[in-house]
Amino acid sequence: MYIGVDYYPEHWPKERWATDARLMKKAGFNVVRLAEFDWVNIEPADGQFNFEMWDEALGVLRSQGIHAILCTPTAVMPAWVAAKHPETLAMQKDGTRIVWGVRKNNCFSSGTYRFLSQRVTRAMAGHFAETPNVIGWQTDNEFGSPECFCDSCRKSFQHWLRAKYGTLAELNRAWGTHFWGHRVQSWEEITLPVDRGSHNPGACLDWQRHFSWLNVRFQREQVQILREVCPKHFVTHNFMGLYQELDYYDLARDLDFVSWDNYPVWGPPETRYRASMAADLMRGLKRKNFWIMEQTAGPCGWGTFGRNVRPGELRSVAYQQLAHGADGQLWFRWRTCTAGREQYWHGLLGHDGKALRRYEEAAQVATEYRRLEKELAGTTVKADVAIVYDYQSLWATRIQPAFAKNDYVGAVGRYYDALLRAGVNVDMVNTDADLSAYRSVLAPRLYVLPDELAEKLEAYVRAGGTLLGDGRLGVKDATGLCHARTLPGRLSECLGIEIPEYEALPDETSYGVTGRGRMEGRFAAIHYADWTTPRRAEALAKFDEWHVDAYAAVTRNAFGKGAAWYVGTVFKEPSFYDLLIRELLKDAGVAPEIVPPEGVEVSVRSAGRKRVAFLVNHTEEEKTVSLPRRMTDLLTGASGLREVRLGRHGVAVLK
Ligand code: GLA
Ligand code: ZN
Repeated sequence: MYIGVDYYPEHWPKERWATDARLMKKAGFNVVRLAEFDWVNIEPADGQFNFEMWDEALGVLRSQGIHAILCTPTAVMPAWVAAKHPETLAMQKDGTRIVWGVRKNNCFSSGTYRFLSQRVTRAMAGHFAETPNVIGWQTDNEFGSPECFCDSCRKSFQHWLRAKYGTLAELNRAWGTHFWGHRVQSWEEITLPVDRGSHNPGACLDWQRHFSWLNVRFQREQVQILREVCPKHFVTHNFMGLYQELDYYDLARDLDFVSWDNYPVWGPPETRYRASMAADLMRGLKRKNFWIMEQTAGPCGWGTFGRNVRPGELRSVAYQQLAHGADGQLWFRWRTCTAGREQYWHGLLGHDGKALRRYEEAAQVATEYRRLEKELAGTTVKADVAIVYDYQSLWATRIQPAFAKNDYVGAVGRYYDALLRAGVNVDMVNTDADLSAYRSVLAPRLYVLPDELAEKLEAYVRAGGTLLGDGRLGVKDATGLCHARTLPGRLSECLGIEIPEYEALPDETSYGVTGRGRMEGRFAAIHYADWTTPRRAEALAKFDEWHVDAYAAVTRNAFGKGAAWYVGTVFKEPSFYDLLIRELLKDAGVAPEIVPPEGVEVSVRSAGRKRVAFLVNHTEEEKTVSLPRRMTDLLTGASGLREVRLGRHGVAVLK
């Protein structure tokens, strides 16, 4: 297992390097990530390369048995690139170019920038291909910005559309340009939809896809070189969890595995559902374990900073990711930097270079991970429940949310959190995933629903699956046009409902909802309401208000060998979602092994018959978890346990 830190030898005098490497080794670290922002030192002048400093630093690290992941350094262009080729700087909406001096400031369609990127990648790859302690590469750094509105990007967009649609007639149809007289008569007439809120929604969706594609292509050009020149090395990238600008499934395709940057410590201690959800998505991108390339090491911020990790918290943050499938882990950063914009993004060592409490805790984690290594080898999370996580629906929702409080991640999160509270592992999967392996599939906010996908979901239920859909399901086709059908369109039969009318609810409005039978209870509906008419479905909850009391808020339809649930509103109470998930899991025949107390998270990694259960206490109270059978705590060695006691931020790893 690779455990280590993000290291910047270029920030410190050479004389310090040996001390750093020694301290890393003492902590039990065996890997560092290097050089993602050091283009100017690697290529100080056009086409002239210099690797002396890096050779020396790698040598020092190697003497302590520390491996290295190198980065293509294209996240920051050297000043000479900007001066010589100003067109490589991204153009902002107002028509001015980004002022050089930040990072992530390049245009991704610029031929010059792509050429320079490939050249520096090839030079680095060639130089380090045989360096003994180099094991792999990170492409660039956190792809996803900036959006660029330059002429080159406009031409690129026009070409991309031409390749996609073939004819102008098809483009005009797909975007529905008969509206507002927006029909275009030549490809050159196509402009950039600079304002997501008022341009044609189809154009906005394609612009987002094009931006994503530009990043994917840029990365692919680097990956091809790395594969050719460094066949022994892996290639990864540091993703940003629930970041929304790119289709992460596409970005992941060319890589060996996904890595991501996890900074979940900001406000008061909380159950870190989003960090779990992000981890499950990161695992879902390639259906494969992932690494943490940057992990919170202390207070974070560029101007002001957040709170410090409390004793035990740095460890629980790490274990949460291990539990969800992290196979490698690096803390960001090694030593807090005395210079630059990130002086306050704190590391394991202080400005003074002294090993802090945080260093000791990271070292403890490294030692424990070593102890677990054998038990975890080959294991991953295997889930009975999947959530369809779809960037097309996410983007379409951002372009036209339909109701003010509609945010895709938040909507998915309501179900995700309830599943986590129930002690159930979840896979986050793309729309093209094979669903047959899952007992239950949740497809929240599946706004964009091409017919093939609707048919696939219907077939899934017919064959015995338990499906859940909710508000705005299937409103749009793949190009952003509304289907000319009564909602939920192609899924009407499967869900056993029709939704001829619907509405957004203003902030001050909520509807009472009365649930009966399996959904017994009183709840409050907020933000949005489908006026759902059950056809064959059973209404499990109905609205109370006189004008909507004929309509169902929650329905369930027995269909084929399975069941299809529909939730046509947003519920205020998390307890609603707990009840819903409980009933859904009953339908699906999924029974979690360990039901955690509030604030404690359970996750299971398994391989064949081997099962390792993780418990993470996110709270600062002691929690007791009862176990389904006698288990052994792999960290303490205690065996025959029928229950475990977890202290503040405590963790247990059980077999
Ligand atoms: C990101 C980047 C790092 C660093 C941290 C802190 O995750 O990848 O280079 O900037 O944020 O800001
Ligand atoms: Zn551009």
